[in-house]
Amino acid sequence: MPAKTPVNDTPVIEMRGITKRFLDNVANDQIDFTLRAGEICALLGENGAGKTTLMNILFGYYSFDEGSIAIRGEEVALASPKDAIANGIGMIHQHFTLVPTQTVLENIVIGTKDEKRFFLNLKGAHKKLLDIQEQFGLHVDPDARVWTLSIGQQQKVEILKALYRNSSVLIMDEPTAVLAPQETVDLFKTLRVLAEQGRSVIFISHKLHEVMEISDRVVVLRNGRVVNQKRTADTDVKELANMMVGREVLERIERKAVEPGEPVLEISDLTVLNDKGLEAVKKFSLTVRRGEILGIAGVSGNGQTELCEVLFGVRNVETGTVRIGGEPLRLGHPLSSVRSGLARIPEDRIYMGLLMDMTVEDNLQLENHWTERFAKNGLRRFDEIAANSQTLITDYSIKTDGKDAPAKSLSGGNLQKVILARELSSEPEVVLASQPTRGLDVGATEYIRQRMVEEKVRGAGVVLVSDDLDEVMGLSDRIIVMYEGEIMGEVVGSGADREQIGLWMTGVGS
Ligand SMILES: Nc1ncnc2c1ncn2[C@@H]1O[C@H](COP(=O)(O)OP(=O)(O)OP(=O)(O)O)[C@@H](O)[C@H]1O
Ligand SMILES: [Mg+2]
Repeated sequence: MPAKTPVNDTPVIEMRGITKRFLDNVANDQIDFTLRAGEICALLGENGAGKTTLMNILFGYYSFDEGSIAIRGEEVALASPKDAIANGIGMIHQHFTLVPTQTVLENIVIGTKDEKRFFLNLKGAHKKLLDIQEQFGLHVDPDARVWTLSIGQQQKVEILKALYRNSSVLIMDEPTAVLAPQETVDLFKTLRVLAEQGRSVIFISHKLHEVMEISDRVVVLRNGRVVNQKRTADTDVKELANMMVGREVLERIERKAVEPGEPVLEISDLTVLNDKGLEAVKKFSLTVRRGEILGIAGVSGNGQTELCEVLFGVRNVETGTVRIGGEPLRLGHPLSSVRSGLARIPEDRIYMGLLMDMTVEDNLQLENHWTERFAKNGLRRFDEIAANSQTLITDYSIKTDGKDAPAKSLSGGNLQKVILARELSSEPEVVLASQPTRGLDVGATEYIRQRMVEEKVRGAGVVLVSDDLDEVMGLSDRIIVMYEGEIMGEVVGSGADREQIGLWMTGVGS
């Protein structure tokens, strides 16, 4: 699709000299940022570079220490998101803010001036919503309760909510991180319609191919400063990666052949229900050996999440057994999963893997504080603990004020790294990694992929669940495809045929 030229020259948004400090940490350092009507601008940068902070400022969510913001040429004071919304700015956070028990329509109308008249004017609100849906190709049943919707549909509701408020600028913080490939295609169609109408989009993503596809312009942040900006047409993925990281980034990870050993994870006849009480995993059996990476491909929502949750010990099973290292796993007990030697890298890391009010060190220690290395005769070995925290912070390049900083002060990607560091450093028997590189910048992604290969070489059995087919194909020794809770097909990783896998993913058998 050709890049669109801006429809007029007055910037919609002009942020000048924005500086934001958190204590001594300068999250945004004299940032100038301009956005024009009809423009899709990608905001790039490593984890902790300051992207979310800058957008939270534009959305009136954070105050700032220096600088000014002008909207359509007029200087504004944005004291809260309410002010930003009144100025036509909408933000779609990575974690949605919808009320699950309410309907789509209710969620959209809440907080607008139509709300008071809502029950009187249900028909009017309904009609307005349908008009917007038609215009942008965003189809979601207005009467559906939000909890019954997929993540992709919920995101549509968030976008509809912003459009219902007549937002002319849409901020999207890593919108595609939670989407399946087809949902991303749909989102991009919507964004193009928005831009054609002269609305503007700020798009944050670590997926550089997407940035190349959808944006007109890129702005790159590093350590809180703008280090470069370019028209997208004048750059490429490689250059973008280099600008962000400040060095060359590897494209491919060496697969490393290892002779697989004995079975270390044995799943037999597992049947699991989802939240709606339907069978999400159906009589599922799988064996993973030491020294192999088993990739699970599939469109999300085909039972992968429920399968992982069972192994993590946070979802009950209907039937079936699991063995780790030959020992039966006590199902439904998270601690049993941890103690059996399972490294748990859940998809939803913020809710499942972290205690946000505790320190980085506490979070790094969460699952191994009783081990001999960190506790002797009932006493915690503080030297050892501190040294370990420091090593992990360095090895995983976790950007933080230090091991004693609260987890909630970390950026999204750095939170992910805390979990990955904790789990991969426990010398596990089995690594179960669901979307392990989601939300990570290019450098961290490269590092995590290497670590997974190292785990396999060390002799762990690694299970990689990922929506990213390139990631699955690039790392796995063996690939299975899940469709509607069953294994649709299996191939050897090195000889994997992308087209065949794609067909299996959509339920077409061989
Ligand atoms: N509420 C806060 N308190 C203290 N420090 C914070 C807070 N929010 C952000 N920071 C710090 O500001 C810096 C920038 O964080 P920000 O969330 O903007 O990064 P980001 O570019 O969005 O990264 P990511 O790609 O990981 O989401 C980080 O060093 C982070 O630790
Ligand atoms: Mg962020």
